[in-house]
Amino acid sequence: MNLVGSFFGSSIGRKIIMALTGVILIGFVVGHLVGNLQIFQHPDHINGYAQFLHQLGPLLWVARIGLIAAALLHIWAATVLTLENKRARGGDYGFKHTIQATFASRAMRWTGVIVLAFLVYHLAHFTLGVVQTETFKETAPLNHYVMQNDYRVAGFTVVKAGTDVANVHSMVILGFQHKVVALFYIVAVGLLSLHLLHGFNSLFQSLGLRNAKWSWLLHKAALALCVVYFLGNLAIPGAVLAGKLRPQTAKVAATAQR
Ligand code: HEM
Repeated sequence: MNLVGSFFGSSIGRKIIMALTGVILIGFVVGHLVGNLQIFQHPDHINGYAQFLHQLGPLLWVARIGLIAAALLHIWAATVLTLENKRARGGDYGFKHTIQATFASRAMRWTGVIVLAFLVYHLAHFTLGVVQTETFKETAPLNHYVMQNDYRVAGFTVVKAGTDVANVHSMVILGFQHKVVALFYIVAVGLLSLHLLHGFNSLFQSLGLRNAKWSWLLHKAALALCVVYFLGNLAIPGAVLAGKLRPQTAKVAATAQR
C-alpha cells in the first residue's frame, strides 16, 4: 500500500482527516456567520458582499468544491471510525466510559445528520431559491437591489454604486418572517453549535492537546466560542421575529406584512 493509502487506511490517519476537515468546516461556518452579520448594517453591505462572492466565478467554485470534498471526507471518516469503535467496544473501556463515549458519538451522529438535512433545506431556500416563502414571492420586485454606495474589500471597490444586484438582505428577512422557518434555523444552529462543541473536544484529543493541564482551559474556550457562534446565528432570525430587522423600504414592509 502506498503512503496515501496507508494514511487513509489507518485509524490515526482517519482521525487526522476528521480533525483537518473539521477545521476547514469550522472556518467556513464562522466566516459565513461574520459575512451574514452584515445584515445589521445598510443593505449595501450584505448585498455587496453576496455580489462580490458571485463575481469570484471560478474561484467561488474552487472554494465550493473544496468545501464539499471536506464535508464528504469528514462524513466518511466519522462513519468508518464509528463502525470501528462499535467493533472495539467492550474491550479496554470501562462501563462508565463506554456509556459516555456512546452518548457523545450518538449525539455527534444525530446532530450531524440533522445539520446535513438543514443544509439541504438552506441551499434550496437561499442559494437555489426553490423554497422561498410566500412573502418573498409576493414581493418579486424586491429580488433586485441597486447599490447605493460602492462596496469595498481591503480598500478596493469590488461592487460599484448603481450596480443591479440580488437582494439578499430582503430575501433573508422575508424568509425569517415565516415563524416556522425562523424556528427551524434556530434549532438547527443550536444543534450545529453542540456538534461543534463536541467536535472541538475530539479535535483537541486527536491533536494530543487534551492533557490534564490544558483540558479545562480548552473546554472553556471551545464552550465560549460555541455559545458566541450560537448567539451570533440566533441574532439574525431573532431580530427578524422581534421586528428589529425589516426589509429596507416602507413599501416592502407593508407588502410583507399582508
Ligand atoms: C442565521 C443563519 C444563516 C443565514 C442568515 C444564512 C444565509 C445564507 C445566504 C443568504 C446564503 C446565499 C448566499 C448567496 O447565494 O448569495 C447562504 C448560503 C450558504 N449557507 Fe448559509 N446562512 C445561515 C446559516 C448557515 C449555516 C449554519 C450553515 C452551515 C451548516 C450554512 C451554510 C451555507 C452554505 C454551504 C451556503 C452556500 C454557499 C455557496 O453558495 O457557495 N449557512 N447562507
